[in-house]
Amino acid sequence: MSKPTPEQVEQLVAAARSARENAYAPYSRFPVGAAVLAGQRIFTGANVENASYPLGVCAERNAVAAAVTEGERQVDAVAVVAGARDVTPPCGGCRQVLNEFGPEMLVISESPAGIRKTWHLSELLPDAFGPRSLP
Ligand code: THU
Repeated sequence: MSKPTPEQVEQLVAAARSARENAYAPYSRFPVGAAVLAGQRIFTGANVENASYPLGVCAERNAVAAAVTEGERQVDAVAVVAGARDVTPPCGGCRQVLNEFGPEMLVISESPAGIRKTWHLSELLPDAFGPRSLP
């Protein structure tokens, strides 16, 4: 676990904002972009919905999948950018998926107006079930 620098946080938020432009969200009309910092590299994801609604995948999970696919196993931070008036925190399912790769990661969410909130994942998902919970 390495703490992201302020510059990396800015890059991460910018990458999430840019990824949001490629979101496929024709059903919810709620495009979301995400970016994760893993191994000092940035990986992005956008939400990708489906006509079979439950098959849609959140931006955060797609960003994690991109990092893991490239061999990363430790995520140090995630940035989320959505279009709601207030900042959008990761959904419960995404918190669980993020926890797998960085229980103490920094979570940054920014609204279109530039309002930002930052948490540690353990604040958003206390007493998480994770890899170490298994026998
Ligand atoms: N969504 C995300 O991609 N990330 C979040 O943190 C919240 C929700 C997506 C799922 C769905 O495509 C749309 O936003 C509306 O819920």
